[in-house]
Order: sequence, then structure tokens, then C-alpha cells
Amino acid sequence: MLKAQILGTGYAVPEEILSNADLEKMVQTSDDWIVSRTGIRYRRIAGDGVATSDLAYRASRSALEEADIAPEELDLIIVATMTPDMPMPATACLLQHLLKANSAAAFDLNAACTGFIYALATAENFLLGSDKYHHILVVGAEVLSSVVDFTDRNTCILFGDGAGAVLLGKGEGNNGIIATYLGADGRGSSLLTIPAGGSRHPASQETIDQRMHYMQMQGNEVYKFAVRSIPECAGYVLDEANLSTEDVDYFIMHQANIRILQAAAKKLKIPWEKVLVNIGEYGNVSAASIPLVLGEAAEKNKFKTGDLLLLVGFGAGLTTGAALVRWGR
Ligand code: UT7
Repeated sequence: MLKAQILGTGYAVPEEILSNADLEKMVQTSDDWIVSRTGIRYRRIAGDGVATSDLAYRASRSALEEADIAPEELDLIIVATMTPDMPMPATACLLQHLLKANSAAAFDLNAACTGFIYALATAENFLLGSDKYHHILVVGAEVLSSVVDFTDRNTCILFGDGAGAVLLGKGEGNNGIIATYLGADGRGSSLLTIPAGGSRHPASQETIDQRMHYMQMQGNEVYKFAVRSIPECAGYVLDEANLSTEDVDYFIMHQANIRILQAAAKKLKIPWEKVLVNIGEYGNVSAASIPLVLGEAAEKNKFKTGDLLLLVGFGAGLTTGAALVRWGR
């Protein structure tokens, strides 16, 4: 059966490191508290003048090279991000220009931390639903440091910058995307927001004075939602494919908090060795989180052909999503 297959992966992180010791000088917190409550030790921070499209470009180049696909062969570029270079034009168009992918359509997609799963499922539908699309670049990229309030200890300890990309093509056989699930519950939309900068609260002196252009989060509520929704989403895609957790070789979950991953692993009754984790090094990178784990693991040749990967995302919206992927072409 025809499937959307991952032909290449890539990732990019800025060089500058923000450690827990650095944060101790900015807000009232401690390395102990951050490590024990979140598992995070470091995050990467884009320097002045580095925007989301720059990180997206580096990750995309690696994915294209690995797949041995030229930018001109791209039919579509989807960038999942909640920190675009600017509200308009789409970061995907800026990336298209940087890559010189002149034949590709390009758009952004915002499903916050679930963005990469949403983009993957969207790309799969383009590939399988039309003869016009053969190669699609799916990118998750964020410069969250541009919307983090570094005076708010509830959020500034969590987030970092980075990008991950996959190049999707199509092929017959067992490997590729097997099942996807996307969900949303707008009743929880106020739990995680950047209140200003849109049509509800356009930029004004007041919105700036009230720090409304920064991320605001009710951490506890989001935490509970995450622990509840990961096993739920995993169940949906496994049921659709008639598979069980024992069939899965690796779980790649959105890296929001190591305690969320541990609680989800316990609920799913899966061995911790099967859970891929890089939150200690990079923190929460929103839409870039899942492709960053995927890209790093692929670079280390962790996956062999036929391995079953279960990707699960959750985040602002509230959004949830999962994808079941059999590795290889
Ligand atoms: O990617 C999008 C999805 N985002 C998430 O999934 C985030 C989910 N939420 C979380 O990861 C956790 O809720 C946090 C890490 C944000 C917070 O951890 P928590 O265990 O839920 O802590 P809490 O908010 O219940 O706060 C416990 C205590 C409070 O003090 P009191 O009221 O008990 O005296 C906080 O004021 O810890 C305090 N606290 C801190 N202390 C030191 C909160 N932040 C910090 C801090 N350093 N950075």
C-alpha cells in the first residue's frame, strides 16, 4: 500500500547555552528545583539576529542532504511554529527563499507543541491525496526565547530554541506513516497563551507594560492534561493500526517535562529504555521538540529498518496528536 515515508531527517540548535546556573542569576530558583521538577539542565538560545527561519534552514539542509533530494524537487514546505520570524509573510516562504526551493508551495501551521504532528499528518494527506505532491519538507522550528519572560520563573526555566526537519516522499511497502491522530479542545485555550500581538490585543504601550507579549502558562493544569492525553493519543493510533504498546520500539513524546514522560510511561506500562529523551540538554522546544529527538536519534543510527516509532505531541490549544511510523523506505 502507498505510504508517506521519511526519506531524511535533520536538526539544528543554536550554540549559545543557557544553564540552570545562568537562570539562578535571573530569577529566584535553583538548579536542584529545576532538575528535580523538570529534568532540564540546559537550553539553547538563538543569539541576536537569529530567527526561526535561520534554524529551520539549517535543519532542512541536513534533511534534504540525507534524502539526496535537491531543493528544486520540493513540492511543498510546511513549517510548524508558534514563533514565526514575523506575523507575515509565513516563515515557510522565507525558508523557501533561503533554500531556493522555487517550485514549492509554502505555508505555516500553528498547533503549538503539537505542531510537528499536525504538519506530518497534513503532509501525509497531500502526498497520498494528490499526484501533484512527491516531496514535502516538514519542519518544526522555534525561537521561544523571543516570547519567554525571563522575569517569570514559572516559564523561563522550561523553554529553548531549535529546529528539526523531515523530508517526506511516498513509496509502496510496509514502512512509512501507518496511522495518525489529531485532536483539539479549545475549552483549555486560556491555559497557555501569548495574550497580545494579535487582533484581540494589538501591540500597544499598555500590552508591552503588562508583559502581554510573553508566554503565560497555568503549568499544573497543562501538566495534568499532558499526562492524561499521551496514553489516550497513543491508544488511538495503536488501535487504528491494530498494534499494541509491545510492538513499539521507541516512544518519541513532546519533551515538556521529564516527570510528564515518566508518568506517561508508567500509565502505558512501557519500559523507560524505549522512551527517547533529550529534554535535559534542550528543554522544551515546542514544535521543534519531536523532530529534534527524531533527528538526533537518526543521526546516531538508533533506528533500524522496520522499527516502529510512536510520536506523541500535546500543547497549547489545547492540542494533541500522535503518529505511528515504521522506520525506513
Ligand atoms: O509544551 C507545552 C506544555 N507545557 C507543559 O507541559 C508544562 C507542564 N507543566 C509543568 O511542567 C510543571 O507544572 C511546571 C514545571 C511548570 C511547574 O512544576 P510543578 O511541580 O507543577 O510546580 P508548581 O507550579 O505546583 O509550584 C510548586 C512550588 C510553588 O511554590 P509554593 O506555592 O508551593 O510555595 C512555586 O511557586 O514551586 C514554586 N516554583 C518554583 N520554585 C523554584 C515555581 N517555579 C519555580 C522555580 N524555581 N522555577
